[in-house]
Amino acid sequence: MKIWLEQASHGAVEVDQVLVVLLVICGFFLLVTAGPILFFSFRYRRNNPVNRVIGRKNMLSLELAWTLLPLGLGIGLFAHSAAVYFRQRYAPADAMEIHVVGHQWMWKVQHPNGKREINSLHLPVGVPARLILATQDVIHSFFVPAFRAKQDAVPGYFTTLWFTPTKEGTYSLFCAEYCGTDHARMIGTVTVLSRSDYQAWLQTGRQEESPVAAGARLYHSLGCSGCHEAGSSVRAPSLHRLYGSVVPLERGKTRIADEQYLRDSILLPNLDITAGYEPVMPSYQGRLTEGELLALVAYLKNLPRETPPDLP
Ligand code: CUA
Repeated sequence: MKIWLEQASHGAVEVDQVLVVLLVICGFFLLVTAGPILFFSFRYRRNNPVNRVIGRKNMLSLELAWTLLPLGLGIGLFAHSAAVYFRQRYAPADAMEIHVVGHQWMWKVQHPNGKREINSLHLPVGVPARLILATQDVIHSFFVPAFRAKQDAVPGYFTTLWFTPTKEGTYSLFCAEYCGTDHARMIGTVTVLSRSDYQAWLQTGRQEESPVAAGARLYHSLGCSGCHEAGSSVRAPSLHRLYGSVVPLERGKTRIADEQYLRDSILLPNLDITAGYEPVMPSYQGRLTEGELLALVAYLKNLPRETPPDLP
């Protein structure tokens, strides 16, 4: 009989450790509280002739012990779980990026070289993978139990999820949020391959445009370049060196230029106006699919950083 679910990522081992530590500590306190309750209720039941006089009234050392030990334990548990949480939350900078779009009722995946797949995700073993999740309709939730990894895809947002697969094999992929009639069929597989097998797999089937190349095409065809490139007649902020920087907004506010910021700036351009600029950008809401938006953002993130900044 298998007690533990397969552990196929670093995160899975860490999450299970948190679970085991909590179980052991809860089990211990169950014994030391429920045990005496049962014992005392039997021993001091009514009419049982036992000594009911309290001996010592103050036991400072005991009181300090049962206050301070659980306090330390609680803080330790918090620190341990928080460390695991933050490691699961923030991907390493060199993680490879995979685009995932939830759809009623399928997962559409695109790899950095453009390779697409549906309801399946191929990954190389030992390489941190960062998924950027979007949804074309309702809330879906990307769930890989063997990685102990789950993240909602929420309309209007990009969400992210990352893990490092540690074991080659095939694992289940679920949608873990009720999303309509065929929610239960929104399932698939995650296949972890050796690095060389993954590279070979990437070359199979139809070769597609990479997201960065598709984004570059959109950047020009939608007219973004007309305003945002140096030398254009409309004064729009330069998009070079933008990703990851701190953007000054009006009234002294700032916002970090992460993926969500790029998304908002394209769809809701009047939400956060860059300080010193006019709110003249049109919204692209409804003109881009989630996949195109992901591609455009991938292109903006990959704009060369070495270009000289705009002269004032
Ligand atoms: Cu998608 Cu449930």
